[in-house]
Amino acid sequence: MLMEKMKIQEVQSTTKKQRIATHTHIKGLGLDVSGNAMPMAAGFVGQAEAREAAGLVVDMIRQRKMAGRALLLAGPPGTGKTILALGIAQELGSKVPFCPMVGSEVYSSEMKKTEVMMENFRRAIGLRIKEYKEVYEGEVTELSPEETESVTGGYGKSISHVIVGLKTVKVTKQLKLDPTIYDALIKEKVAVGDVIYIEAYSGAVKRVGRSDAFATEFDLEADEYVPLPKGEVHKKKEIVQDVTLHDLDAANAQPQGGQDILSLMGQMMKARKTEINDKLRQEINKVVNRYIDERVAELVPGVLFIDEVHMLDMECFSYLNRALESSLSPIVIFATNRGICNVRGTDMPSPHGIPVDLLDRLVIIRAQTYGPAEMIQIIAIRAQVDELMVDEESLAYLGEIGQKTSLRHAVQLLSPASVMAKMNGRDNICNADIEEVTNLYLDAKTSGKLL
Ligand SMILES: Nc1ncnc2c1ncn2[C@@H]1O[C@H](COP(=O)(O)OP(=O)(O)OP(=O)(O)O)[C@@H](O)[C@H]1O
Ligand SMILES: [Mg+2]
Repeated sequence: MLMEKMKIQEVQSTTKKQRIATHTHIKGLGLDVSGNAMPMAAGFVGQAEAREAAGLVVDMIRQRKMAGRALLLAGPPGTGKTILALGIAQELGSKVPFCPMVGSEVYSSEMKKTEVMMENFRRAIGLRIKEYKEVYEGEVTELSPEETESVTGGYGKSISHVIVGLKTVKVTKQLKLDPTIYDALIKEKVAVGDVIYIEAYSGAVKRVGRSDAFATEFDLEADEYVPLPKGEVHKKKEIVQDVTLHDLDAANAQPQGGQDILSLMGQMMKARKTEINDKLRQEINKVVNRYIDERVAELVPGVLFIDEVHMLDMECFSYLNRALESSLSPIVIFATNRGICNVRGTDMPSPHGIPVDLLDRLVIIRAQTYGPAEMIQIIAIRAQVDELMVDEESLAYLGEIGQKTSLRHAVQLLSPASVMAKMNGRDNICNADIEEVTNLYLDAKTSGKLL
């Protein structure tokens, strides 16, 4: 049917996660209903004006009023620009793609600069695809693989088929399924008592959650409980999939080789690097646009976050200018800690190293440096996230260090200080530990002066 032209079944999320990991304590912008910044909320401390301004941008994005424009977060190092971008993304919801990148990423030896830009743009554009699919759905009542002597003549047994019992409010059915589906069940970690569905066509297995009949069982992992499905086991079901354009590019670029040994060998010999080219992207765009016209899919513009924007050069900036005009464009958020500097590769000075024509499109939010009280609170939050104990006096001391050097430096002293505390036979960090580590690790300013 419709979907046959484009491979979406095996789409695996290709989201980049690593850069967010260090900021996991941020849960949004911490604004109240009228958009005012709460002094300490969602993991945020202070920086009230910037957070409120960011909240307005979130509203503009929701109302689709940011088209053709972009946001710039400007401010000194360690003032929370990266977490502001993350907060914006979280306010937009988990289904909205968020793709973080650093300006210097474009200087890769393997890809052209514009290719890198394009890939990241496509990681930030989501597509919500709704399809009716024929499925078998229910709570798993039994799951038993049936073994036979291995057909290949080797030792051991192989699985000939798997018996799966599925229960709905109305009926219970027993299905005899292909061994490949057994692998899929294992991969999804399906157990008796889970609600699952199996796509009739592809055999793809999806675990929906734990049946709420089991909700009283002791469960540490806070599983998601779902009701027992109604109606028949075999039915048509609306399935919603959230993917990004890059997911689609990647899934369709993968070698499609057949089942025979020769093509398998071929695949193993070839470098498994996927080849995504312009032609493929254009094909995908065509299909995507058709799906949108036919209302099979809905576009979900996400957020592309480009940190250290001053690292981009003219070629990237002209790409950006064009891309922002496109109908398939995400919201772009830039961040920089530079004031006036040359646009990279030129001797043309410009605010934040950004050419004037792009500057014209920007909404600019400034992040301010923190006072001592705020710094102490931020350091306390960081310590809490890392499960480190620090007494009041040491927090104040770290705050002092942060004022003299930088917030980041003060935060970075936490983990060596905790190691030091352990070595001295204590669980909580105290002044002596901090003193010891400050003697060991220099901050950048001091280190710079020494050379
Ligand atoms: N207002 C705040 N509330 C809570 N934590 C904060 C706040 N501001 C900064 N932090 C923490 O301080 C550290 C630095 O913040 P962040 O990385 O967002 O700064 P930045 O402005 O992006 O710095 P740079 O210019 O060096 O990239 C992070 O660990 C972050 O979690
Ligand atoms: Mg940053």
